[in-house]
Amino acid sequence: MSNRPRILIVGAAGQVGVELQRSFADYGEIICRDRDTVDLAVPDQVRTMVREAAPNIILNAAAYTAVDRAESEPDVAMAVNAQAPAILAEEALRTDALLVHYSTDYVFDGSKTSPWVETDKTNPLNVYGASKLAGEEAIQKVAGKYLIFRTSWVFGPHGQNYLLTMLRLGRERESLNIVDDQIGAPTSSIELANATRSIVGGVLDGRFGATPNWAGLYHMTCSGSVSWCGFSRAIFTHAHALLDGKIPLVNPIPTSEYPTPAKRPLNSCLSNEKLSLRFSVQLTPWDTALDEAVLTLVLSRQSA
Ligand SMILES: NC(=O)c1ccc[n+]([C@@H]2O[C@H](COP(=O)([O-])OP(=O)(O)OC[C@H]3O[C@@H](n4cnc5c(N)ncnc54)[C@H](OP(=O)(O)O)[C@@H]3O)[C@@H](O)[C@H]2O)c1
Repeated sequence: MSNRPRILIVGAAGQVGVELQRSFADYGEIICRDRDTVDLAVPDQVRTMVREAAPNIILNAAAYTAVDRAESEPDVAMAVNAQAPAILAEEALRTDALLVHYSTDYVFDGSKTSPWVETDKTNPLNVYGASKLAGEEAIQKVAGKYLIFRTSWVFGPHGQNYLLTMLRLGRERESLNIVDDQIGAPTSSIELANATRSIVGGVLDGRFGATPNWAGLYHMTCSGSVSWCGFSRAIFTHAHALLDGKIPLVNPIPTSEYPTPAKRPLNSCLSNEKLSLRFSVQLTPWDTALDEAVLTLVLSRQSA
């Protein structure tokens, strides 16, 4: 490989994809693909996309992420979240490229009382989780040079996410009812992309040894945990500068009072011990990452 690898970012316009574009900008030749250029639900288009790009690294930040809508569109969710990653893995293996893929805490049923580890039994409660699990399994079956990072509750300055939704609702409403019995680690897209960049750099430098030493499935989340209600309160405290002086009242409610088409796990906390031991990488605490994302939003507002 030349000193500047060819990096194909799939799902480049999504919230993680945008941050991957930033974090890998100085590392190689970036080729961005998104819905405008490829429909990942069509296998031939996925294969053609990779063959034309001829990448050394594939960063797959694309996914069907509409968790509730997936209940009524299981075929599309499965095509994008399972069949497309399988083709990416096959194409990566064919050319000895590295495939980086993201998965989710929703592969678990949330019944454990301590953080989930990579070897815990999966049992997705919804179609989205089942489709993401099928994607993990397909990549592992191909068994090339791959890294799967399971993450949770992704937020950031770009795209559609909980932080931006809360900021909008915070400006519009006097009070909000937010679920308080689901806990997890809000994880910033900035932190995810930076950690990915650091690990990929180490892998390509040979710092982590030969492929079998580092390839595999890892949990990658910000540290700490909080409920959705606690996260909302933190957003309103940390991001008051973006709320036009309004801070809404946040009322805790149980999941039973907020029915959704897709069931969600109660405990989404993932242990990052394997990631830390293997790569010496630790993401910041979620509230520090929240400050970082808020600062990015404030700065972009000032420069707009
Ligand atoms: N968001 C979370 O809270 C969360 C939690 C755990 C894990 N993850 C995982 O983290 C990764 C990144 O998620 P994210 O939050 O950055 O997702 P995102 O913002 O929804 O971005 C996903 C991207 O994939 C694109 N996409 C979806 N279907 C497509 C298709 N058929 N053809 C082409 N492009 C398509 C989307 O385009 P459109 O916008 O046009 O649909 C979007 O640009 C995913 O693997 C996700 O499963 C996310």
